[in-house]
Amino acid sequence: MANNGWYLKPNVVIEPLIERWYAWAHLISPATAAMNVVGRHLKIMRSYVQSPEVHAAAVRNPKMLGGPFIDYKTPRTDEIKNLIETTGRRQAALIRLAEAIKELDAMLKKMARGYSLETLYDKVPDILKGYVELVYDLNNNPSFRFFEPLLFKSEYCNKGWQSVALWVTNNDERPFCLSTPRLDEPGVLHLKIPFDHPGIDALSRMKRTPGSVDEVSEMLGVGSADRSLFDTFFTRQEHPAYKRYEGPNVRMRYFGHACILIETKGISILVDPLVSYYGYDSGIAHYSDIDLPDVIDYVVITHNHQDHILFETLLPLRHKIRNIIVPRANSGALQDPSIRLALQHAGFGNVTEIDEMEAIRFGNCTITGIPFTGEHSDLNIRAKTCYHITADKYSFLFVADSRIVEPALYQHIHRTIGDVDVVFLGMECDGAPLSWLYGPLLTEEMARDNDQSRRLSGSDFAKGMSLINIFHPKEAYVYAMGMEPWLKFISSVRYTDTSNPIVQSDKLVAACLEKGVIAERLYGEKELLYDMAALAV
Ligand SMILES: [Fe+2]
Repeated sequence: MANNGWYLKPNVVIEPLIERWYAWAHLISPATAAMNVVGRHLKIMRSYVQSPEVHAAAVRNPKMLGGPFIDYKTPRTDEIKNLIETTGRRQAALIRLAEAIKELDAMLKKMARGYSLETLYDKVPDILKGYVELVYDLNNNPSFRFFEPLLFKSEYCNKGWQSVALWVTNNDERPFCLSTPRLDEPGVLHLKIPFDHPGIDALSRMKRTPGSVDEVSEMLGVGSADRSLFDTFFTRQEHPAYKRYEGPNVRMRYFGHACILIETKGISILVDPLVSYYGYDSGIAHYSDIDLPDVIDYVVITHNHQDHILFETLLPLRHKIRNIIVPRANSGALQDPSIRLALQHAGFGNVTEIDEMEAIRFGNCTITGIPFTGEHSDLNIRAKTCYHITADKYSFLFVADSRIVEPALYQHIHRTIGDVDVVFLGMECDGAPLSWLYGPLLTEEMARDNDQSRRLSGSDFAKGMSLINIFHPKEAYVYAMGMEPWLKFISSVRYTDTSNPIVQSDKLVAACLEKGVIAERLYGEKELLYDMAALAV
């Protein structure tokens, strides 16, 4: 290919993988990765090898959407057998770590009886020695915490497990990413590079700035056999230019799901980045990569669920992100890995943790961490925060999936931050049971009725309205809750008009409109411009 002047096509997927599984945050943090390799990946793959026809039938059944079933159109049993074998060999350390975690948990349950834990350090499995502190809560319930930064520097964290798959897509269809590993397919190029590889930045820059395919190919180590496929990822055609916001006030753009860009003349803030591809017809209008500024001053992340931290979106944006703000979490608890450490491991050097009611100020903006409750199956998880963002004279409250379990909390918060102009909230109020996401972390099976009652559910109508009644917004927007087509592979939801989250959010929108609050359930894209005159009205 002639040298310079090539752009990366806008519909090239850059999919980060860990031993062929979609790289979400729990696969990057070592302890949760260990538990997922054993309790999710190997379990699903072994079940598939036993009876691929059961999996094939399950993925055709909409009621089983998001279940632990491998989704391929034709049987891939031999390849899955191979993947079980390579996983066992290449991730042997992680498998041992998972066994040791279970052993440690069992030992504490049996032997920690309220007496000093010091004598039990000898009984910690050898491979965990030095990586854990043994603790009680005030009621003598024993537990342990990881020294997580040390796990990231141990054999339980290996960048050799990471790779990136590249292909050109013409639709939003992908199997549910937590249940189906990515096997070889024609047209998909696997690059065995770690997530912090500078070649990912060079490749991503070519979405905007034309460059040399030869140079980026060399950086990424593309083999000669793959070069002709790699060449198909590029085009001479310049992409539409991003139009910078030059207005005097604030522009808000909804990119789908919980991803929102706030721009003033000088500053851009992107909440929960999840950016769809373009260059093909997805059936609905939506903003995409071309609508993002060349520099994103702040990315803010609300919580550690796979639909709110997407390495697939974040890695290609890494070169243009100045700062990332994430909720503070350093409990060392298995269920609460640090988002900061996972991002740093993936090559982000500019990650700041924010605490509850802590504010970060810059220019004419403030970002404040606000307590986020619920939606985590009542597990003790701190890596979650809502955000109160002020830009110029406007204030936005991003509640994400927080379930308003106790309105008094938000009344206390209201006394500090006052009314807000705009509220954004998710209302996936049914939610999956605990085991759907956290099951692999359990060291003992949970009773079904406990599991069913401990859900990943956001606010319903009553809980959402309690928030509206506290913060008196002028506008209230409900996220699309996974309905956008490019979300299906990660959220696995499918609603009808009678689905509870739709019914509840319709009620909230109607009640808001009744009160004179502008309200809508978002879908696809939305642009709002805030100016002084409109605010006065
Ligand atoms: Fe969530």
